[in-house]
Amino acid sequence: MINWQITHLDEVDSTMNWARDQNLSDHSAVIADVQTAGRGRRGRQWQSPVGNLYMSFVVGARDQDEINRLPFLMGLAVKDALPDLAIKLKWPNDIWIKDKKLAGILFERFSDHRDNKVIGGLGLNINHSPKDIGVDLSELGIEVDKSDLVKSILNHFDLWRDRLDWAKEWNRAAAFMHDPVTFLHGDLQKSGVFQGINQSGHAILLDPKFNIPQTYASGEISTLRPE
Ligand code: BTN
Repeated sequence: MINWQITHLDEVDSTMNWARDQNLSDHSAVIADVQTAGRGRRGRQWQSPVGNLYMSFVVGARDQDEINRLPFLMGLAVKDALPDLAIKLKWPNDIWIKDKKLAGILFERFSDHRDNKVIGGLGLNINHSPKDIGVDLSELGIEVDKSDLVKSILNHFDLWRDRLDWAKEWNRAAAFMHDPVTFLHGDLQKSGVFQGINQSGHAILLDPKFNIPQTYASGEISTLRPE
């Protein structure tokens, strides 16, 4: 197994920017105690007070198919690193406990798509979480050593990269499996029954009227259940 090179920063705008600007190599990661401009998916802010985990990590992938898999593998890695928790994975890449968000995952490319290298980001609530919609480990009575947790997550991530059953295992941990959901696809809102992901990581949604499965490469399951 390749060792991860981990840099620790007290404060940064976003670990995503730092990893990009330093042009980190494959198997390098950066964690920061505080981010002043943490970002989430879909242009959202990621509140980053002291006490939680904010990490970016650089991965060299073979091809686009592998790049597409990485967010799912990171979700599975976080689940494996916290085996005492009933973690659910919410498509495409949120980590939930019951109906609240514990962690979020973001992947970005270098602007020039350098060597199939991508930057992954993980924000995981350890001591703080947004009221009502988030949950953190301290609230669940789980104490962790941040640097042990980081190493465990990254090592599990490496193990998942060699596995062929990732989609099956992701589906076993999927939130809303076989449930009616509202689904945001760009500006469109769709309703259907969530059927998990296929081997490309695309979401499968069954149209309730016609019983036809539709696959979506992008979008997200809305937290609102359909009426
Ligand atoms: C999401 O659920 O929207 C993804 C959140 C990703 C947040 C992490 S925190 C570390 C890294 N740096 C950032 O600015 N964002 C990611």
